Amino acid sequence: MTAPIPLIAGNWKMNGLAAALSEAKVVAAGAGESRARVALCPPATLIERMSAALAGSPVLVGGQDCHAEASGAFTGDISAEMLADAGARLVIVGHSERRAGHGEDDAAVAAKARAALRGGLEPIVCVGETLEERKAGKALTVVTGQVKGSLPPEMAGSAFAVAYEPVWAIGSGLTPSIAEIEEVHRAIRETLVAMFGDHGAAQPILYGGSVKPANAAEILAAAEVGGALVGGASLKAADFLGIVGAV
Ligand code: 13P
Repeated sequence: MTAPIPLIAGNWKMNGLAAALSEAKVVAAGAGESRARVALCPPATLIERMSAALAGSPVLVGGQDCHAEASGAFTGDISAEMLADAGARLVIVGHSERRAGHGEDDAAVAAKARAALRGGLEPIVCVGETLEERKAGKALTVVTGQVKGSLPPEMAGSAFAVAYEPVWAIGSGLTPSIAEIEEVHRAIRETLVAMFGDHGAAQPILYGGSVKPANAAEILAAAEVGGALVGGASLKAADFLGIVGAV
């Protein structure tokens, strides 16, 4: 079984005005040599302009969330079809900031992942435990439960990624030990194989949470780590390229 192609994705979260497109262009100019697939997920307002700015480059553009429906009376929401129409190729679903801040449970995340596939987008499905859950020894149970609940059966025939993002490691400068990352990633892999067989073995499992150029090589070399989902360090092209270059 060949290992999944690594994916390094930058999640800009609610950051970035038009001027930030210059950073994306620097990423595009520097990412060509990588054996990883590289993606940037800007706020929805920049997806169309970033897609145009990066046309012909190897860097993919992604959304940060999508609604489960294709269209309708859902003020302020955006559908997978709209993201694809604007040039996106991927979409993050189930980020902990959506789960915690917008009340998204596993069923809602699964509906979004299904919508992503319907819209022709590759979903990056996020999972991860809180510090309380880790301290209580529940990290593996929580994360594998999220994987089972957040990935719909339709994923069986389509490319996707799972991102393990411990909630307590996001934006905190803290990271789990390599052994802890490997333990969770192995459990996610076992769950994916149980759910999807060989297809579940062929999709990358990303690590996310305080990934920086300084720790990227060690994290990316860990067992079953097939890339990274990068927040803060994806906002500066030099930092992001440092992570891309660590693959
Ligand atoms: P940081 O890299 O800023 O910790 O954010 C991680 C994250 O939430 C990516 O989705």
